[in-house]
Amino acid sequence: MLQLLEASGAATTVRRADYSAPAFWIDTVALTFDLDPAKTRVLNKMTLRRNPEVPAQALRLDGDELNLARVLINGAGCSFKMDGNQLVLENLPQEGAFELEIFTTCAPIKNTKLMGLYVSNDSFFTQCEAEGFRRITYFMDRPDVMASYSVTLRADKAKYPVLLSNGNLVEQGDLEDGRHFARWVDPHKKPCYLFALVAGKLVAREQRIVARNGKEHLLQVYVRPGDMDKTEHAMQSLINSVIWDEARFGLPLDLERFMIVATSDFNMGAMENKGLNIFNTKYVLANQATATDVDFANIESVVGHEYFHNWTGNRITCRDWFQLSLKEGLTVFRDQEFSMDLCAEPSARAVKRIEDVRVLRTAQFPEDAGPMAHPVRPDSYIEINNFYTVTIYEKGAEVVRMMQTLVGRSGFAKGMALYFERFDGQAVTCDDFAQAVADANPDSALAKLLPQFKRWYSQAGTPRLQARGDYNAAERTYTLSFSQSCPATPGQDNKEPFVIPVQLGLVGASGAALPLHIQSDLASVGDSHLLVLTQASESITFENVNEEPVPSILRGFSAPVILDFDYTDAQLLTLLAHDHDPFNRWEAGQRLALRSAIQSIVDSPDGIRAKGLNHAYVEAMRAVLRHPTLDAAFKELVLTLPSETYIAEQLDVVDPQRVHAVREAMREQLARELLADWEWAFETHKANGSYRPDTLSSGRRALAGLALNYLCLAARSSEDTVWPGKAYQRFKDADNMTDRLNALSALVHSGHELAKPALARFHSLFKGEELVLDKWFALQAGCCDRGGQVLPAVRALMKHADFNLKNPNRARSVIFSYCSANPGAFHRGDAAGYVFWSEQVLELDTINPQVAARLARALDRWKKLAEPFKTAAHEALKRVAAKADLSNDVREVISRALA
Ligand code: PHE
Ligand code: ZN
Repeated sequence: MLQLLEASGAATTVRRADYSAPAFWIDTVALTFDLDPAKTRVLNKMTLRRNPEVPAQALRLDGDELNLARVLINGAGCSFKMDGNQLVLENLPQEGAFELEIFTTCAPIKNTKLMGLYVSNDSFFTQCEAEGFRRITYFMDRPDVMASYSVTLRADKAKYPVLLSNGNLVEQGDLEDGRHFARWVDPHKKPCYLFALVAGKLVAREQRIVARNGKEHLLQVYVRPGDMDKTEHAMQSLINSVIWDEARFGLPLDLERFMIVATSDFNMGAMENKGLNIFNTKYVLANQATATDVDFANIESVVGHEYFHNWTGNRITCRDWFQLSLKEGLTVFRDQEFSMDLCAEPSARAVKRIEDVRVLRTAQFPEDAGPMAHPVRPDSYIEINNFYTVTIYEKGAEVVRMMQTLVGRSGFAKGMALYFERFDGQAVTCDDFAQAVADANPDSALAKLLPQFKRWYSQAGTPRLQARGDYNAAERTYTLSFSQSCPATPGQDNKEPFVIPVQLGLVGASGAALPLHIQSDLASVGDSHLLVLTQASESITFENVNEEPVPSILRGFSAPVILDFDYTDAQLLTLLAHDHDPFNRWEAGQRLALRSAIQSIVDSPDGIRAKGLNHAYVEAMRAVLRHPTLDAAFKELVLTLPSETYIAEQLDVVDPQRVHAVREAMREQLARELLADWEWAFETHKANGSYRPDTLSSGRRALAGLALNYLCLAARSSEDTVWPGKAYQRFKDADNMTDRLNALSALVHSGHELAKPALARFHSLFKGEELVLDKWFALQAGCCDRGGQVLPAVRALMKHADFNLKNPNRARSVIFSYCSANPGAFHRGDAAGYVFWSEQVLELDTINPQVAARLARALDRWKKLAEPFKTAAHEALKRVAAKADLSNDVREVISRALA
């Protein structure tokens, strides 16, 4: 047993400071697969040579759950030894290239981790990022080893008619015994994490496109035969991505053939394998009957994201996994810009920005304040899979966005150009990227402040920016004083000041934008100014200010910080009504709502005497809702209260039940007091004509959906049956999934009795549609809890014939929807939610550690919980920790939480 444990690799901490260049280079890799679910045979022929810059040493190849059959050097048998999971070869030729041949087998059908080669719906797929290639063959499984690949796939032709790998198809044909083969050659060198193969019964939507330079490319979207009618949107998104990257950054498609393949079993969203992206079906398949507007938008952004990796990630890759944000932060930034650039209306850009910030603040800020906090470029990890986080992705994207803010849009494009000029074909670091952007803009604030700016890469934690305004009526000056600080995070007690770009403006009491004068002898700088903060404390004075202004600070959320400003309600109402910056307009409404939520929570320990929303706020919401020119999408965002998670983050001690009760009470109040306005909003926004998932009509559907939700909520307390009846009717008659699901969730969340028949009907309508069934499960597990009914419902759902713990999407739709997305139902006074959580973490860990470790994070913030929740959560964490043979993935998350 002891030996077994050792052989599977004891947990070790990997440190960025320990990086050393590889001792060998692998120049070419020729892989031959005999695909068989139970026993796939893999022949790996490589040419290697020593890296002359590194002292001579043994060759160490990583492996994981492989059966090793044979090792040959230059065609002859050789001696080797095993060191844990590594295959170690000594006495290799000192000079020149040599050939290494390794023959192994593996069992894809047993691969429930979905890393390496696995089977899903009778087809073969691979997932190699970050360290999955070692589950396919012995290799130097690190991103700075880049090789040329040729791949031969052999399989039964009837069962696996389609055989795909990276690059170009150079040969195919039939073999004996009903088998066939295909040979693929990738024209680009790549790290092994970008290797992919697919084999199975698939069909493709195809499109030929001609690039600006006249070259023709073949685009393909492969899906199961029944899913062809859901591929149009993904293909259109891919075409848009190709066009956009060429237009905005001058980056063309560098392949003759670009393929996307969808699989129902996938740990993440999608994977950017060179020329052969593999996607979770959730981010490919859509038509109006099965997918919501949000699904359509997500598909566009994920297709874009993976495609943009072709340059940022694949052409230039990461030197080591500590540099993960080099490709992920940059590529998220690029997909965000892509989605914004595709918006027809400027207001839709702002809506997209607000949505992105909402994700950052509800997911990344808590991460940055909790036990898993880590810098955008981490210094150490135990399991790299745990570092595919909102910090690496979303905060990383904000860091890139700040660079663009500091050098300007065209300056940033120049920076990208220099980055490719310098590093194309290489494996590099976050420093290399920042340096390129700065060097391309030598006169910019970024170039001048680069070492300090890079603290965004090295220091974890969300900076807090405290601002104060002083108006001097006699001098007609207005001074804004700022001080910044950043809380301690694990391993980082003291933080140095950050470079914080603060976009700001001043708004007059009447709502007019005031012209900004920074020095009296200078002309106005317009009505928006970029202030770049670098000190712990500093201030700026505006002159010729004729009235006491309302400052609009951090416009567009110009830096990922928490801004404290002691606004009066009246000032926030002014910003909500008038600010030219849509982000801050929305933010003002959120601040008002947050303020009254917190007041209710603090003032009324029993939750009963809560004052609720004040009259002015309700009237302001009415004004927004009825506003003649604002977009429906924007209205929907303003009228959606801050989430329970976001409210909880503002508190030092969290009673999730009280947070839930207070927010629900606020929702009921808005439902009641705006009843006529909701009716108006629903009636005027419900009809759309023929369905299109564009931003304008999506916004209208979203607002109609919100209105219906409030109307059903109001009906709850008034025992009105009209609106639930209308919701049921709409649920039945809807010609698209957005309206249908919105109507269904209005019934489910309000707890109306019509929810039951509606859910049953929904299930029978969409029996065969996995992705729609996921919605059916998620809706029930995420349902508003009234009297503790959700947990028993979740347990019942897990016994449903359609439930399958091994399928990550399905597991997420039930377990995560409950544990991570339904705080009011999960944090139970009787601890039963936590008991359920610990059972599921342990069970999932035996199947799929990556998914288990994500679930494990549902209790990240347990130390902030009030009693009895805190003690109960602690018990649950200890119960998980007590299991001896936890995966490294779960072990790392749990031990950090308990530290
Ligand atoms: N690199 C993928 C992306 O962000 C994410 C991913 C990581 C997918 C690891 C699978 C495994 O696009
Ligand atoms: Zn990515």
